[in-house]
Amino acid sequence: MSSVDYSQPLATLLKDSTHEAHDQVAQSEGAKLLLSGQLTKEEYTRYLMILWHIYDALEKALEKHATHPSLEPTYNPALLARAPALSSDISYLLQVDERTWKSHRIHLQLLSRSPAPLLKYERRIKELSQSSDPSALLAHSYVRYLGDLSGGQTIRHTIAKAYDLDEASGLGISFYAFKELQSAKLASQGEMKRIKDWFRVGINTAGEQGGVKVKTAVLEEASLAFKLNEGLFDLLELHLDDKNRENLISPYQALEEKSFSLGSVVAVIAAVCLSHFILVVGGFTGDSGYQKLLAVEQWLANLWNSISK
Ligand code: HEM
Repeated sequence: MSSVDYSQPLATLLKDSTHEAHDQVAQSEGAKLLLSGQLTKEEYTRYLMILWHIYDALEKALEKHATHPSLEPTYNPALLARAPALSSDISYLLQVDERTWKSHRIHLQLLSRSPAPLLKYERRIKELSQSSDPSALLAHSYVRYLGDLSGGQTIRHTIAKAYDLDEASGLGISFYAFKELQSAKLASQGEMKRIKDWFRVGINTAGEQGGVKVKTAVLEEASLAFKLNEGLFDLLELHLDDKNRENLISPYQALEEKSFSLGSVVAVIAAVCLSHFILVVGGFTGDSGYQKLLAVEQWLANLWNSISK
């Protein structure tokens, strides 16, 4: 970083210095999977849960340091906070109450596996939050929020199409939507540009106040933040074998698979009674009797297969 011109505004330095890291993550296999809409609904929901953990950690850290000179200029949770939107999308996709998605099977499995890239990312944010100078948190704000404000709109459309979500109502895709700077209305493309400009002004103010020391810390942390995000995308690759599974498996599916409906049980009993009746009335002796036996056996086998699928 010796060739960096620190007299440049911090937002410009950030854009220039992370250009390559950005292209690398944007062209990664995980990004391609996400953008192609090929992920199962379950896999996509798991990805949103991973993001929720990141934003939850980040937004708690930003709140803790809301008045710090490096973070105060871009601190605007009403405009930027993504954890609440993620929580709402996750529960909509799972069709569960927002207070209960954390005890859903998909989330419990995620926690039990504790994916290393998620832990690493969370740990880094917590580490910065506990340090005497949390300025580098600004890099995490930049990488996530400006990224969401930039590429988010294209992804919103892809995701809505892939998972049959209604773009007009915004249900299940609120993560990609931002409110206007001055009102509660949904931001248009033009308004998104204004939000990004406002965010960059805040970054530059922080850079001016903090000088070279803060600029250096934020630039270094931004490179790391891109790598941490690449790690999250790698997790999507690891779950590729989920692709052919049912789109969204209910938490009760395992139970359903091992039990049979009352109707199925009645059907089997009726079949056994009927075969018993045939045996008693017609018998299974002689050539025709043997054919009858085979037919009844086949019929029972088919019936059993159809209810146990
Ligand atoms: C998934 C594939 C991605 C695509 C197609 C994509 C695309 C873009 C595009 C077109 C821009 C420029 C927008 C503008 O100038 O207004 C942009 C900006 C940005 N993206 Fe991405 N992006 C992707 C992934 C990511 C990821 C994973 C991150 C980080 C987590 C990220 C972070 C950013 C940031 C911070 C900016 C703002 C750069 C600046 O102006 O300083 N992007 N992205």
